[in-house]
Order: sequence, then C-alpha cells, then structure tokens
Amino acid sequence: QWGMHFTYSEQPEPRGLADAFILGKEFIEDQPVALILGDNIFFTQDFSEKIISFKSGGMIFAKQVPDPGRYGVIEFDSAGKVLSLEEKPKEPKSDFAVVGLYTFDSRVINFAKDTKPSTRGEIEIIDICNRYLDLGELKVNVFDGNWEDAGTFESLYRANGFAREEAAKSINI
Ligand code: G1P
Repeated sequence: QWGMHFTYSEQPEPRGLADAFILGKEFIEDQPVALILGDNIFFTQDFSEKIISFKSGGMIFAKQVPDPGRYGVIEFDSAGKVLSLEEKPKEPKSDFAVVGLYTFDSRVINFAKDTKPSTRGEIEIIDICNRYLDLGELKVNVFDGNWEDAGTFESLYRANGFAREEAAKSINI
C-alpha cells in the first residue's frame, strides 16, 4: 500500500540506542541509514526532503525545550557552530535538545562497535554523534514544530494533547 517493506530485529537486552546499528548491520550494508525512536512523536514537520538528499556524514535534528537535562544537549557558538554534545547533563550548556531522528552513513556500524558503554551500561547515540562532530562531519538542523519524547507520563499526556489539537484542525472543530 505504501511501497514499503518492514522487517524486524529484536534487541534481547537493553544495550543502548546505538546498538541498532550493530543489530541492523546487514540491513544497512554500505548505504546511509536513518534511525527514528519509537517514543518520539513529531507533529507537522516533514523531514523527508532532508533525509532523501542525505549522502554522507551524520545529520541530526534539534529543538529548543524547557527541560534540556532530559536529553542529549547541543552547545552552539554565536555563529551557530556546534561546540559540544552531552547526554543528559546536570548543567545543560543550552536548551537545544537532540531529538530522536538520526541519519548516518554506513561508517556508523563500526563507530557503534567501537563505542564503550556509558555508566548506564548502554552504547549512547550521543557518542556516535560526537564521532561525526570530531570528524567535522555532523550537520544539525534546528526546527521549531511540536515534538515530544513521550517517555514520561507527563510528556505522553502532552503528546496526546498535541495529537488532539492536530486532529481537531484537520476535521475543523
Ligand atoms: C535518547 C537519547 C537522547 C535524545 C532522546 C530524544 O534518550 O539518548 O540523546 O535526546 O533520546 O528523545 P533516552 O530516551 O534514551 O533517555
């Protein structure tokens, strides 16, 4: 119906988001790959053009949020150049969160294999982003639309509110 074909791979234990690139290495082969987190809910934005035209390096998306300490946080200089990326910092250097949509070239498989687990025992996607940042090959797209990581009761509730508003707009109530 949509011209898509779905296959699934199980992660038997929680080894971190970047493990997706190891589990999916046969799927990726030598092609670029996009990873989207199932608990991230995007409203109204269409990222398809950026993703379709992506060729190499790494490309991530960022949004200003009131609670950056829950997320990967990006520090920019005044010219918009990325200075640092940190996972859930206690003292965030900005309020720009990395959202759960990532695009990488196939080098990501080896970068994931090389990544050491963090203190929470997971191979962190932010470490992969930092590999591309160190190579000068990370592009960040800041966007402004509604987005939620619906991983808490409060944010799941907010996401429901956004969905309700969008549905109401589309049926004109
Ligand atoms: C993950 C990532 C984090 C990112 C967030 C987006 O966090 O580790 O960098 O900002 O998703 O939803 P987690 O859901 O694993 O806590």
